[in-house]
Amino acid sequence: MNFSYRHRRTKNPQLGLLGLALLFLAGCAFLKQCAYEGFNRDQWQQPQKVIEALALRPGDHVADLGSGSGYFTFRLAEAVGPQGKVYAVDVDREMNDLVAKATQGKNIGNVKVILARLDDPLLPPAGVDLVFTVNTYHHFENRVAYFQKLRKYLRPGGRIAVIDFDRRAWFEGMWKHYTPAEFIKREMEQAGYALQGELTFLDRQSFLIFAPNPQAPGSSTNGAAPKQN
Ligand SMILES: C[S@@+](CC[C@H](N)C(=O)[O-])C[C@H]1O[C@@H](n2cnc3c(N)ncnc32)[C@H](O)[C@@H]1O
Repeated sequence: MNFSYRHRRTKNPQLGLLGLALLFLAGCAFLKQCAYEGFNRDQWQQPQKVIEALALRPGDHVADLGSGSGYFTFRLAEAVGPQGKVYAVDVDREMNDLVAKATQGKNIGNVKVILARLDDPLLPPAGVDLVFTVNTYHHFENRVAYFQKLRKYLRPGGRIAVIDFDRRAWFEGMWKHYTPAEFIKREMEQAGYALQGELTFLDRQSFLIFAPNPQAPGSSTNGAAPKQN
């Protein structure tokens, strides 16, 4: 018995290595998920209150931009209902796989995963009613150009909601994983948006809602087609 076990191991050393590699990869995804979701996130993130503040309507289409392990994706999916749609958009294939697997496992029909480019979320041309991005703003490169480009994905009346860590988040501050709210406001204004709302109930993040500014240069040529659903 022992012999045959040893024999099998020596005959297929690649299998052992493959197993180790799979364990390592699964571990990476799990570690990332832990890093994004933390251990008591619901307490400080107040996800229910955040979703309520977004005032989504059944049937809305939403992009969860930088969706990570999907902390908000499934809550958004519930808020827009079966007629709505949530695009879980990320540049990290591993995180997208995690969300896709959870979507299948929970039998959720209104979530679609999109593998984005660093400079483009690659949303469908029909566009969305809301782009929602949490703890991701500080990751974007060339933010003014990025958000300028994003306007073409917004349907008429569309909005962008940005939640990011601010100076009050000491842990994220150590790693420079935050953006002061005044930077976000200034950059979004430069990208052609006007501040529509500022919610202050989160204790370590800013929560800002923007809409395209019709006065901004080039704004008349932007925007996705009107809603069909
Ligand atoms: C800190 S995680 C936040 C995940 C999720 N929003 C949450 O709150 O749990 C940031 C995510 O943004 C993604 N990301 C970074 N740059 C991106 C880009 N240009 N486009 C889309 N996703 C991006 C990362 O891969 C990562 O999954």
